[in-house]
Amino acid sequence: MRKKIVAGNWKMNKTFLEAEELIAQVAEALENRKLKDKIVVLCPPFLFLELATDIAVESNFSVGAQNVYPDDRGAFTGEISPPMLESMEVEYCIIGHSERRKYFNESHEFLARKLDALLKHNIKPVFCCGELLPERKAKKHFKVVEKQLNESLFHLNKEEMSEVVIAYEPVWAIGTGVNATSEQAQEMHAFIRGLIAKKYSKKLSGEITILYGGSCNSKNAKELFSNPDVDGGLIGGASLKAEEFIAIFDAL
Ligand code: 13P
Repeated sequence: MRKKIVAGNWKMNKTFLEAEELIAQVAEALENRKLKDKIVVLCPPFLFLELATDIAVESNFSVGAQNVYPDDRGAFTGEISPPMLESMEVEYCIIGHSERRKYFNESHEFLARKLDALLKHNIKPVFCCGELLPERKAKKHFKVVEKQLNESLFHLNKEEMSEVVIAYEPVWAIGTGVNATSEQAQEMHAFIRGLIAKKYSKKLSGEITILYGGSCNSKNAKELFSNPDVDGGLIGGASLKAEEFIAIFDAL
């Protein structure tokens, strides 16, 4: 069955005490809510993953990392491996975020390696894709997203693919306050689902969770989530305040 997910990507925000407070607030709010088929994922910085997984044991949210290195171990100063995440009971990991593609020059090929490495260690990848503003203006957005999926994701077999969550995050919508319209989101999500149907099967395409990300907040979430192919959100700025994040969860 297709899962509905609201995931908070904290990016490089929060100190230890702030992180502790935010996680506790989210946990408390979720205590009084029925999650049903909905999943909440918190993706704090690496440093606070242990804090998050400790609280998650007693609560009903899952924990995700924001990045990973695709080797199990070795001389890669400053990096974190999939077995390390697995040993901390981290269930999800964001990869392919546009900020990593842009600031850290992460290539399609490197992302494909990360995907394989995560799946080998039972961590669900949250694979981000999305076009730049000039690409949308030039009406190349479908081509761009198709290439991102083709080059990093579509080498997976059916079974592996069923573990992946996709997040469509148009780069022009990230942190700008300009979200994709409900129609733009639905159109791209349906396109992505169509590609999965063609490459794998109609059944699998119907089971894959596709999240929307980019200036999603408590005001626009309901409309975005009302689309048949939008299964939740990957939330940046609005995940940094418990009340706002929970309001987005309530909109799903
Ligand atoms: P904002 O919600 O701050 O636009 O960020 C979205 C995002 O990049 C989530 O990964």
